[in-house]
Amino acid sequence: MTNFVGEHLTDEFLTRADYERAAQFIAAKTKHKPTIGLVLGSGLNLLADEIAHADVIPFRDIPGFPVPTVEGHSGALVIGGLSGKTVMALRGRVHYYEGHSMQRVTLPIRAMRALGIGTVIVTNAAGGVNEKFHAGEVMLLTDHINLVGMTGANPLRGPNDDSLGPRFPDMTHAYDPALCDLARAVARETGIALREGVYMMLAGPSFESPADVRFIRLIGADAVGMSTVAEVIVARHGGMRVLGLSLISNSLAHGHDKVSHEEVLAAGKRAVPQLAALIKGVLARMD
Ligand code: HPA
Repeated sequence: MTNFVGEHLTDEFLTRADYERAAQFIAAKTKHKPTIGLVLGSGLNLLADEIAHADVIPFRDIPGFPVPTVEGHSGALVIGGLSGKTVMALRGRVHYYEGHSMQRVTLPIRAMRALGIGTVIVTNAAGGVNEKFHAGEVMLLTDHINLVGMTGANPLRGPNDDSLGPRFPDMTHAYDPALCDLARAVARETGIALREGVYMMLAGPSFESPADVRFIRLIGADAVGMSTVAEVIVARHGGMRVLGLSLISNSLAHGHDKVSHEEVLAAGKRAVPQLAALIKGVLARMD
């Protein structure tokens, strides 16, 4: 089976050469030497505008990079300075539901790794399934449930290149405990009420039915979305440190009426200043 750009969907196995080709292209387009990666999810692209002396590289120019098709996900790399660090931000990301393979979806993380980036901050918009969560709040990811991966769509499926990471990577501390502590400290100091919890990845693109939501809550998730977990698994496979932050864009917990993409984007806009302040605070204090 092939997708709309003629790529094999289910069994697309990329290699180190693919990641290095992308990384070399990026390195040739910027003088910056980024040490921290930022993945900016739905509605959070605004943070990329704060990156100083930015080199902007459209995804479509980078060999092998998947190009987003969804509103709110204009796709470009933005490389430059933020809070005293040199960062490489993915302004927008692609999702599995757009029809790309899991390995294609996670290629930008591999490219970051090939560029020498050792830490990545991943963000997303998520639906709250914990009854205590409200739209517009920020959640620190302390763990995840890889529902899509459990049913086979794991980005590490296929031949393992031991030079990239182990066949069976550990996921016990996928979200770096020291970075979590740092985020808690910054939230306390900046007066941000930071929620914490487990993020579950579903394939989407349909939103969850009320019965889906009851199931998701029952098996231990606090928030649900259509991204992030595959990227985190690939980052951990490559030995990167990960900090994960969800913007709770809507609550599914209280017998929700309807969910819309517009609602998700609007809540994103409202809560961006908080999340941006948190990320900048963390960056400023990272070593
Ligand atoms: N469900 C799935 N993904 C989402 C949601 C949701 O309610 N909100 C934002 N991303």
